[in-house]
Amino acid sequence: GQDIKQNIIMADAVRAVIPRRSPAAHKGMSGRVLVVAGSRGLSGAAAMAAEGALRAGAGLVTLAAPGSLQDVLAMKLTEVMTKPLAEIEAGSINREAVADIIRLSAGNDVLAIGPGVGREEETAAAVRETITTAECPIVIDADALNALAGNTKLLNECAALPVLTPHPGEMARLTGLSTESVNADRIAIARQAAAEWGSIVVVKGASTVVAFPDGEVYINTTGNAGMATGGTGDVLTGIIAGLIAQGLSSHDAAVAGVYIHGLAGDVAAQAGRIGMVATDLLKAVPAAMYGISS
Ligand code: APR
Ligand code: MG
Repeated sequence: GQDIKQNIIMADAVRAVIPRRSPAAHKGMSGRVLVVAGSRGLSGAAAMAAEGALRAGAGLVTLAAPGSLQDVLAMKLTEVMTKPLAEIEAGSINREAVADIIRLSAGNDVLAIGPGVGREEETAAAVRETITTAECPIVIDADALNALAGNTKLLNECAALPVLTPHPGEMARLTGLSTESVNADRIAIARQAAAEWGSIVVVKGASTVVAFPDGEVYINTTGNAGMATGGTGDVLTGIIAGLIAQGLSSHDAAVAGVYIHGLAGDVAAQAGRIGMVATDLLKAVPAAMYGISS
Protein backbone atom coordinates (compact mmCIF):
# COMPACT_ATOMS: atom_id res chain seq x y z
CA GLY A 1 0.00 0.00 0.00
CA GLN A 2 2.88 2.48 0.58
CA ASP A 3 4.10 4.60 -2.29
CA ILE A 4 7.69 3.36 -2.34
CA LYS A 5 9.92 4.44 -5.18
CA GLN A 6 11.63 1.11 -5.71
CA ASN A 7 13.84 0.54 -8.74
CA ILE A 8 15.87 -2.24 -10.29
CA ILE A 9 19.31 -0.95 -11.33
CA MET A 10 19.27 -1.00 -15.13
CA ALA A 11 22.31 -1.24 -17.41
CA ASP A 12 21.16 1.84 -19.34
CA ALA A 13 21.07 3.95 -16.19
CA VAL A 14 24.60 2.85 -15.29
CA ARG A 15 25.78 3.46 -18.87
CA ALA A 16 24.46 7.02 -18.62
CA VAL A 17 26.63 7.88 -15.60
CA ILE A 18 29.71 5.69 -16.08
CA PRO A 19 32.98 7.68 -16.42
CA ARG A 20 34.08 8.50 -19.98
CA ARG A 21 37.67 9.32 -20.68
CA SER A 22 38.59 11.93 -23.26
CA PRO A 23 41.47 10.97 -25.58
CA ALA A 24 43.48 13.84 -24.10
CA ALA A 25 42.92 12.68 -20.50
CA HIS A 26 45.70 12.91 -17.93
CA LYS A 27 45.68 11.29 -14.51
CA GLY A 28 44.88 14.54 -12.73
CA MET A 29 41.49 14.53 -14.48
CA SER A 30 40.46 11.12 -13.15
CA GLY A 31 40.39 12.11 -9.52
CA ARG A 32 42.20 11.27 -6.30
CA VAL A 33 41.13 8.76 -3.67
CA LEU A 34 42.39 8.51 -0.11
CA VAL A 35 41.87 5.08 1.46
CA VAL A 36 42.22 4.68 5.24
CA ALA A 37 42.30 0.96 5.90
CA GLY A 38 44.21 -1.96 7.35
CA SER A 39 45.71 -3.04 10.65
CA ARG A 40 48.06 -5.82 11.70
CA GLY A 41 46.72 -9.05 10.15
CA LEU A 42 44.29 -7.19 7.87
CA SER A 43 46.60 -5.66 5.27
CA GLY A 44 44.78 -7.44 2.43
CA ALA A 45 41.54 -5.56 3.10
CA ALA A 46 43.43 -2.29 2.70
CA ALA A 47 45.12 -3.47 -0.48
CA MET A 48 41.86 -4.58 -2.08
CA ALA A 49 40.01 -1.36 -1.27
CA ALA A 50 42.85 0.69 -2.76
CA GLU A 51 42.97 -1.49 -5.87
CA GLY A 52 39.20 -1.30 -6.23
CA ALA A 53 39.50 2.47 -6.57
CA LEU A 54 42.20 2.12 -9.23
CA ARG A 55 40.27 -0.54 -11.13
CA ALA A 56 37.21 1.72 -11.19
CA GLY A 57 39.41 4.28 -12.93
CA ALA A 58 40.61 6.67 -10.22
CA GLY A 59 43.65 8.64 -11.39
CA LEU A 60 45.63 8.55 -8.15
CA VAL A 61 45.09 6.46 -5.05
CA THR A 62 46.78 6.98 -1.69
CA LEU A 63 46.54 4.35 1.01
CA ALA A 64 47.05 5.60 4.56
CA ALA A 65 47.60 2.74 7.01
CA PRO A 66 49.41 1.97 10.27
CA GLY A 67 53.12 2.66 9.79
CA SER A 68 54.12 -0.91 10.63
CA LEU A 69 52.28 -2.06 7.48
CA GLN A 70 53.98 0.48 5.22
CA ASP A 71 56.63 -1.82 3.76
CA VAL A 72 54.33 -4.76 3.07
CA LEU A 73 51.67 -2.53 1.50
CA ALA A 74 54.22 -0.73 -0.67
CA MET A 75 55.40 -4.16 -1.89
CA LYS A 76 51.87 -5.37 -2.58
CA LEU A 77 50.60 -2.25 -4.33
CA THR A 78 52.74 -1.10 -7.23
CA GLU A 79 50.43 1.69 -8.41
CA VAL A 80 49.28 2.97 -5.02
CA MET A 81 51.00 5.64 -2.92
CA THR A 82 51.27 4.77 0.76
CA LYS A 83 51.35 6.98 3.86
CA PRO A 84 52.29 5.70 7.32
CA LEU A 85 49.95 6.59 10.18
CA ALA A 86 50.50 6.55 13.95
CA GLU A 87 49.29 3.35 15.59
CA ILE A 88 48.60 1.68 18.92
CA GLU A 89 50.33 -1.44 20.22
CA ALA A 90 47.73 -3.67 18.57
CA GLY A 91 48.76 -2.41 15.12
CA SER A 92 45.74 -0.23 14.28
CA ILE A 93 45.57 3.55 13.96
CA ASN A 94 45.49 5.84 17.01
CA ARG A 95 44.06 9.30 17.63
CA GLU A 96 47.25 11.04 16.51
CA ALA A 97 46.58 9.67 13.02
CA VAL A 98 43.45 11.80 12.65
CA ALA A 99 45.27 15.08 11.96
CA ASP A 100 47.35 13.39 9.25
CA ILE A 101 44.28 11.83 7.65
CA ILE A 102 42.47 15.17 7.61
CA ARG A 103 45.48 16.87 6.05
CA LEU A 104 45.72 14.15 3.38
CA SER A 105 41.98 14.24 2.72
CA ALA A 106 42.21 17.91 1.76
CA GLY A 107 44.28 16.89 -1.27
CA ASN A 108 41.86 14.16 -2.34
CA ASP A 109 38.37 14.10 -3.86
CA VAL A 110 36.99 11.35 -1.66
CA LEU A 111 37.87 9.32 1.44
CA ALA A 112 37.15 5.58 1.77
CA ILE A 113 37.52 4.39 5.36
CA GLY A 114 37.11 1.14 7.22
CA PRO A 115 38.28 -2.09 5.56
CA GLY A 116 40.42 -3.91 8.10
CA VAL A 117 40.97 -0.90 10.39
CA GLY A 118 40.25 -3.09 13.41
CA ARG A 119 37.98 -2.68 16.39
CA GLU A 120 40.20 -1.35 19.18
CA GLU A 121 38.40 1.41 21.10
CA GLU A 122 41.09 4.03 20.39
CA THR A 123 40.97 3.17 16.70
CA ALA A 124 37.17 3.42 16.66
CA ALA A 125 37.42 6.86 18.30
CA ALA A 126 39.94 7.96 15.67
CA VAL A 127 37.59 6.73 12.94
CA ARG A 128 34.63 8.64 14.41
CA GLU A 129 36.68 11.83 14.70
CA THR A 130 37.85 11.47 11.09
CA ILE A 131 34.33 10.94 9.76
CA THR A 132 32.97 14.02 11.49
CA THR A 133 35.95 16.25 10.58
CA ALA A 134 36.76 15.43 6.94
CA GLU A 135 35.37 17.88 4.38
CA CYS A 136 35.31 15.53 1.38
CA PRO A 137 32.69 12.86 0.55
CA ILE A 138 33.24 9.64 2.54
CA VAL A 139 32.57 5.97 1.83
CA ILE A 140 32.26 4.15 5.15
CA ASP A 141 32.70 0.36 5.38
CA ALA A 142 33.50 -2.56 7.66
CA ASP A 143 35.10 -1.64 11.01
CA ALA A 144 34.40 2.06 10.43
CA LEU A 145 30.72 1.06 10.47
CA ASN A 146 31.28 -0.91 13.65
CA ALA A 147 32.82 2.26 15.15
CA LEU A 148 29.50 4.00 14.44
CA ALA A 149 27.32 1.39 16.15
CA GLY A 150 25.53 3.30 18.90
CA ASN A 151 26.85 6.56 17.40
CA THR A 152 24.86 6.86 14.16
CA LYS A 153 23.80 10.41 15.13
CA LEU A 154 27.36 11.42 14.19
CA LEU A 155 26.52 10.72 10.55
CA ASN A 156 24.45 13.90 10.49
CA GLU A 157 27.68 15.83 11.17
CA CYS A 158 29.31 14.69 7.92
CA ALA A 159 30.20 17.49 5.50
CA ALA A 160 28.77 15.57 2.51
CA LEU A 161 26.14 12.82 2.21
CA PRO A 162 28.11 9.72 3.30
CA VAL A 163 27.87 6.30 1.62
CA LEU A 164 27.63 3.37 4.05
CA THR A 165 28.24 -0.17 2.77
CA PRO A 166 27.26 -2.61 5.54
CA HIS A 167 26.82 -6.34 5.08
CA PRO A 168 23.78 -7.62 7.01
CA GLY A 169 25.89 -8.30 10.13
CA GLU A 170 27.26 -4.76 10.17
CA MET A 171 23.76 -3.41 9.48
CA ALA A 172 22.53 -5.38 12.49
CA ARG A 173 25.20 -3.79 14.71
CA LEU A 174 24.35 -0.32 13.40
CA THR A 175 20.61 -0.70 13.92
CA GLY A 176 20.66 -2.80 17.07
CA LEU A 177 18.60 -5.46 15.29
CA SER A 178 19.56 -9.09 14.80
CA THR A 179 21.10 -10.16 11.49
CA GLU A 180 18.01 -12.33 10.93
CA SER A 181 15.65 -9.37 11.26
CA VAL A 182 17.81 -7.31 8.90
CA ASN A 183 17.71 -10.09 6.32
CA ALA A 184 13.96 -10.56 6.75
CA ASP A 185 13.16 -6.96 5.79
CA ARG A 186 16.24 -5.48 4.13
CA ILE A 187 14.48 -2.93 1.91
CA ALA A 188 12.39 -1.31 4.64
CA ILE A 189 15.28 -1.33 7.11
CA ALA A 190 17.69 0.21 4.60
CA ARG A 191 15.14 2.95 3.73
CA GLN A 192 14.46 3.83 7.32
CA ALA A 193 18.15 3.93 8.17
CA ALA A 194 19.00 6.12 5.17
CA ALA A 195 16.37 8.65 6.24
CA GLU A 196 17.31 8.57 9.91
CA TRP A 197 21.08 8.77 9.38
CA GLY A 198 20.98 11.21 6.45
CA SER A 199 23.13 8.76 4.52
CA ILE A 200 23.18 6.54 1.47
CA VAL A 201 22.85 3.01 2.84
CA VAL A 202 24.03 0.05 0.74
CA VAL A 203 22.94 -3.21 2.39
CA LYS A 204 25.02 -5.89 0.69
CA GLY A 205 24.39 -9.54 -0.13
CA ALA A 206 22.54 -11.29 -2.95
CA SER A 207 20.30 -8.49 -4.35
CA THR A 208 22.12 -5.59 -2.68
CA VAL A 209 19.79 -2.74 -1.65
CA VAL A 210 20.80 0.92 -2.13
CA ALA A 211 18.63 3.34 -0.13
CA PHE A 212 18.60 7.15 -0.08
CA PRO A 213 17.41 9.60 2.59
CA ASP A 214 14.39 10.65 0.46
CA GLY A 215 13.06 7.08 0.42
CA GLU A 216 14.30 6.15 -3.05
CA VAL A 217 15.47 2.52 -3.21
CA TYR A 218 17.44 0.55 -5.81
CA ILE A 219 17.88 -3.20 -5.98
CA ASN A 220 20.85 -4.77 -7.74
CA THR A 221 20.59 -7.84 -9.95
CA THR A 222 24.23 -8.41 -10.93
CA GLY A 223 26.61 -10.65 -8.99
CA ASN A 224 26.67 -14.26 -7.93
CA ALA A 225 27.46 -16.61 -5.08
CA GLY A 226 31.08 -16.87 -6.19
CA MET A 227 31.44 -13.44 -4.57
CA ALA A 228 30.83 -14.91 -1.13
CA THR A 229 34.57 -14.86 -0.38
CA GLY A 230 36.77 -12.61 1.76
CA GLY A 231 37.66 -9.23 0.33
CA THR A 232 34.91 -8.70 -2.25
CA GLY A 233 33.27 -6.12 0.01
CA ASP A 234 36.53 -4.20 0.28
CA VAL A 235 36.66 -4.06 -3.52
CA LEU A 236 33.17 -2.49 -3.60
CA THR A 237 34.26 0.24 -1.18
CA GLY A 238 37.13 1.10 -3.51
CA ILE A 239 34.94 1.06 -6.62
CA ILE A 240 32.37 3.47 -5.18
CA ALA A 241 35.13 5.83 -4.02
CA GLY A 242 36.85 5.57 -7.41
CA LEU A 243 33.64 6.58 -9.16
CA ILE A 244 33.10 9.57 -6.85
CA ALA A 245 36.68 10.67 -7.58
CA GLN A 246 35.83 10.68 -11.29
CA GLY A 247 33.02 13.12 -10.71
CA LEU A 248 29.97 10.94 -10.15
CA SER A 249 27.61 12.11 -7.43
CA SER A 250 27.58 9.88 -4.35
CA HIS A 251 24.09 8.84 -5.47
CA ASP A 252 25.22 7.71 -8.93
CA ALA A 253 28.45 6.19 -7.61
CA ALA A 254 26.58 4.01 -5.11
CA VAL A 255 24.09 2.76 -7.69
CA ALA A 256 26.60 2.28 -10.51
CA GLY A 257 29.22 0.91 -8.11
CA VAL A 258 27.13 -1.99 -6.87
CA TYR A 259 26.08 -2.81 -10.44
CA ILE A 260 29.65 -2.72 -11.80
CA HIS A 261 30.95 -4.71 -8.81
CA GLY A 262 28.37 -7.45 -9.37
CA LEU A 263 29.02 -7.48 -13.09
CA ALA A 264 32.76 -7.83 -12.45
CA GLY A 265 31.83 -10.82 -10.29
CA ASP A 266 29.83 -12.24 -13.18
CA VAL A 267 32.74 -11.72 -15.59
CA ALA A 268 35.16 -13.38 -13.15
CA ALA A 269 32.71 -16.26 -12.61
CA GLN A 270 33.07 -17.26 -16.26
CA ALA A 271 36.27 -18.94 -15.08
CA GLY A 272 34.34 -20.70 -12.30
CA ARG A 273 32.45 -19.59 -9.21
CA ILE A 274 33.96 -21.95 -6.71
CA GLY A 275 37.47 -20.81 -5.94
CA MET A 276 36.94 -17.35 -7.37
CA VAL A 277 38.73 -14.79 -5.16
CA ALA A 278 38.44 -11.05 -4.61
CA THR A 279 41.53 -10.28 -6.70
CA ASP A 280 39.87 -12.09 -9.66
CA LEU A 281 36.97 -9.69 -9.27
CA LEU A 282 39.38 -6.73 -9.20
CA LYS A 283 40.93 -7.77 -12.50
CA ALA A 284 37.47 -8.11 -14.07
CA VAL A 285 36.33 -4.55 -13.24
CA PRO A 286 37.75 -2.89 -16.40
CA ALA A 287 36.04 -5.45 -18.67
CA ALA A 288 32.77 -5.04 -16.78
CA MET A 289 32.90 -1.25 -17.18
CA TYR A 290 33.87 -1.52 -20.84
CA GLY A 291 30.99 -3.91 -21.45
CA ILE A 292 28.52 -1.43 -19.97
CA SER A 293 29.90 1.65 -21.74
CA SER A 294 30.01 0.16 -25.25
N1 APR B 1 25.31 -12.97 -4.54
C1 APR B 1 25.71 -11.73 -4.94
N2 APR B 1 26.64 -10.99 -4.28
C2 APR B 1 27.19 -11.51 -3.18
C3 APR B 1 26.83 -12.79 -2.71
C4 APR B 1 25.84 -13.53 -3.44
N3 APR B 1 25.45 -14.74 -3.05
N4 APR B 1 27.55 -13.02 -1.58
C5 APR B 1 28.32 -11.94 -1.37
N5 APR B 1 28.10 -11.03 -2.34
C6 APR B 1 28.71 -9.70 -2.43
C7 APR B 1 28.03 -8.73 -1.47
O1 APR B 1 26.94 -8.11 -2.07
C8 APR B 1 29.16 -7.78 -1.14
O2 APR B 1 29.27 -6.78 -2.13
O3 APR B 1 30.06 -9.75 -2.01
C9 APR B 1 30.38 -8.67 -1.15
C10 APR B 1 30.74 -9.19 0.25
O4 APR B 1 31.07 -8.12 1.09
P1 APR B 1 31.29 -8.30 2.67
O5 APR B 1 30.18 -9.09 3.23
O6 APR B 1 31.59 -6.97 3.22
O7 APR B 1 32.55 -9.26 2.75
P2 APR B 1 34.11 -8.88 2.85
O8 APR B 1 34.29 -7.47 3.18
O9 APR B 1 34.74 -9.36 1.61
O10 APR B 1 34.63 -9.82 4.02
C11 APR B 1 33.97 -9.83 5.27
O11 APR B 1 34.94 -7.79 6.07
O12 APR B 1 33.19 -6.30 6.52
C12 APR B 1 34.31 -6.96 7.03
O13 APR B 1 34.67 -7.45 9.23
C13 APR B 1 33.90 -7.84 8.14
O14 APR B 1 34.99 -9.92 8.54
C14 APR B 1 34.14 -9.26 7.67
C15 APR B 1 34.79 -9.16 6.33
MG1 MG C 1 33.21 -6.15 4.32
